[in-house]
Amino acid sequence: MRTAATQQQAGGAAENSAASVASLPQLPQNRPMDLDLQERIPVNRYRPSAPLRVTLDSIEKITPEGSPNDVRHLVLRWRPGEFWWQEGQSVGIIAPGLTAKGRAQPVRLFSIASARGGEDGDGCTLGLTVKRFYWTVPETGVVIPGLCSNYLCDAQVGDQMLMTGPVGREMVPLDWSAPMLLIATGTGIAPFRAFLQQRSRLPAAERGKTLLVFGAQTEGDLSYREWMDDLAVHDSGLQIVYARSREEKTATGKRMYVQDRLREYGHQAWQLLQDPRAVTYLCGLKGMEEGIDDALAATALDHGADWPALRQTLLDEKRFRVEVY
Ligand SMILES: Cc1cc2nc3c(=O)[nH]c(=O)nc-3n(C[C@H](O)[C@H](O)[C@H](O)COP(=O)(O)OP(=O)(O)OC[C@H]3O[C@@H](n4cnc5c(N)ncnc54)[C@H](O)[C@@H]3O)c2cc1C
Ligand SMILES: NC(=O)c1ccc[n+]([C@@H]2O[C@H](COP(=O)([O-])OP(=O)(O)OC[C@H]3O[C@@H](n4cnc5c(N)ncnc54)[C@H](OP(=O)(O)O)[C@@H]3O)[C@@H](O)[C@H]2O)c1
Repeated sequence: MRTAATQQQAGGAAENSAASVASLPQLPQNRPMDLDLQERIPVNRYRPSAPLRVTLDSIEKITPEGSPNDVRHLVLRWRPGEFWWQEGQSVGIIAPGLTAKGRAQPVRLFSIASARGGEDGDGCTLGLTVKRFYWTVPETGVVIPGLCSNYLCDAQVGDQMLMTGPVGREMVPLDWSAPMLLIATGTGIAPFRAFLQQRSRLPAAERGKTLLVFGAQTEGDLSYREWMDDLAVHDSGLQIVYARSREEKTATGKRMYVQDRLREYGHQAWQLLQDPRAVTYLCGLKGMEEGIDDALAATALDHGADWPALRQTLLDEKRFRVEVY
């Protein structure tokens, strides 16, 4: 499976007008995706050499007290008209300070967790789902806080930050009425929060049937669960299933991962994939790709289908979209 670009993507300034965002048309029913639309998605309005200055509007720890994980929901604000994006895109954040070579810190990407109207509908804010990251120096075993994620998680309301983007076209839905299979681990839920927010703002007839499979270590790590469950109660086309790896076990006694849950819900997933417009989106840990591939292969086999051939068709038709990190 291919992975999405992890770098700032090229794109002309002319692509970045508000009009071009607003004018992306909905596709007619039962037609293949118009991939030209994808090329027209605006990217790189702000580059690292000329980032947008934004203000931290709010920051909330969304993992419970006592959890070893620290995930925060941040809301960034700018002046009207300065920034636009589409669901599935990311922004870059430039942490303060210099690298060992005396250069500005390179951009770190974060998925935008809000639909295009922003957190309060005026289009001047967006949410990020940031996990405080630590890494270990292999030679010494010393644990080092990740630079940008810790900068963001320690930020205070009112702080100014440098933001670039938006970037990424791979994860942007082109047809909201098409069925969607969404698979997320951990902070990979961020773009799908944006998807579900946008979905909730559409008339029921324009929302494709959607199955979200979301995995995290514990119940408390399932970010936004309460809000998502509430959406599903009021949306008969939306089904959400969870995998809590440290609290649930598979039949063979292993940690319950998204691929195991997907296998259980293979029939529902298979029904969705029968629609020639259906798109699968994967976001989160790189390690899940192989397991998801195996789960879909097993599901295809159950239904007498040839997964390698189907996978190739889905990839060729851009109906299997992956953003892992
Ligand atoms: C498309 C995309 C979307 C993403 N979305 C999200 C999201 O929504 N939420 C989220 O939390 N994260 C997201 N990430 C991950 C995010 O971009 C960062 O990678 C993550 O937050 C860690 O960054 P950091 O600055 O904290 O860590 P860093 O300080 O950048 O450390 C990261 C790694 O760099 C190496 N490293 C750093 N310093 C050194 C050094 N001095 N010597 C040797 N090696 C070093 C280490 O291997 C370390 O593991 C996304 C990534 C991508 C590509
Ligand atoms: N380039 C980078 O800097 C870089 C690269 C990778 C990750 N990161 C950072 O690492 C952090 C990851 O945190 P997160 O909250 O998103 O994820 P996470 O909490 O580490 O994992 C989310 C869920 O996925 C499960 N999981 C682990 N391996 C899996 C696999 N092979 N298949 C399916 N599921 C699997 C985990 O289970 P268990 O934990 O119980 O096994 C957990 O339930 C983020 O801060 C991210 O930015 C950074």
